[in-house]
Amino acid sequence: MQHRIRRPIVAGNWKMNGNAALVGEMQQALESQQFENVSVVVCPPLTYLGTMQSDTFSLGAQNTSDKASGAYTGETSLSMLQECAVEYVIVGHSERREYYAENDQVVAAKVAAVLEAGLTPIFCIGESEQVRDAGKLFEFLASQIDAVLNIIGINAFANVVIAYEPIWAIGTGKTATPEQAQEVHAFIRQHIAKQNGEIAEKMQILYGGSVNGGNAQSIFSQPDVDGGLVGGASLKPNDFITICLAANELR
Ligand code: PGA
Repeated sequence: MQHRIRRPIVAGNWKMNGNAALVGEMQQALESQQFENVSVVVCPPLTYLGTMQSDTFSLGAQNTSDKASGAYTGETSLSMLQECAVEYVIVGHSERREYYAENDQVVAAKVAAVLEAGLTPIFCIGESEQVRDAGKLFEFLASQIDAVLNIIGINAFANVVIAYEPIWAIGTGKTATPEQAQEVHAFIRQHIAKQNGEIAEKMQILYGGSVNGGNAQSIFSQPDVDGGLVGGASLKPNDFITICLAANELR
């Protein structure tokens, strides 16, 4: 059977959750599986990155500094993440934007730094309920994308993964419907295609926001949805595996 032109990705964002026991459990559970048609990424808290290592899945960081080194107390550089075999970095998650004042400029600098280091940014965008209700959804998402596009240029987007995460769906159990996700993903792809059609066609766009074992298949089967960024359900090995397998089995 024909597989998708874009390889799906399922990334588990543990946020500030989990412990050493979960690290071992998750690693063992994932290694009992074969993921031939999906790239599985685990993004545990920083302190566990050095203790997780696998041929079955990749490691992602939840954040990074855009600076190389120096007097930046509490920060972690990309070269340090690389020493832990990190391949992906989540940038611009709505929680970073909201609680740590990361604005579009900060996000753009981090995306640029991740690319410069040769890693893959998972660049997050997404609207609040108020923005959606005000009919400003597409305008808002375009401005979040353009803030990064204007700094790194379209060619660099060939190495960027976008995660569309409507804020109203994060951790709320309220998922975008498959149709709502598809509508936005198609918009994002078209927005990139205005600059470069080939890059847009190849770009992986993940959906995030209350993805679970029960809804993953219907969301991921939308043509412009290339997998997911999963929070809560990525802490439960069985649920996370169900989600990864839903992406693995896409045709
Ligand atoms: P959730 O989180 O799956 O718990 O809604 C998604 C995310 O914030 O990445």
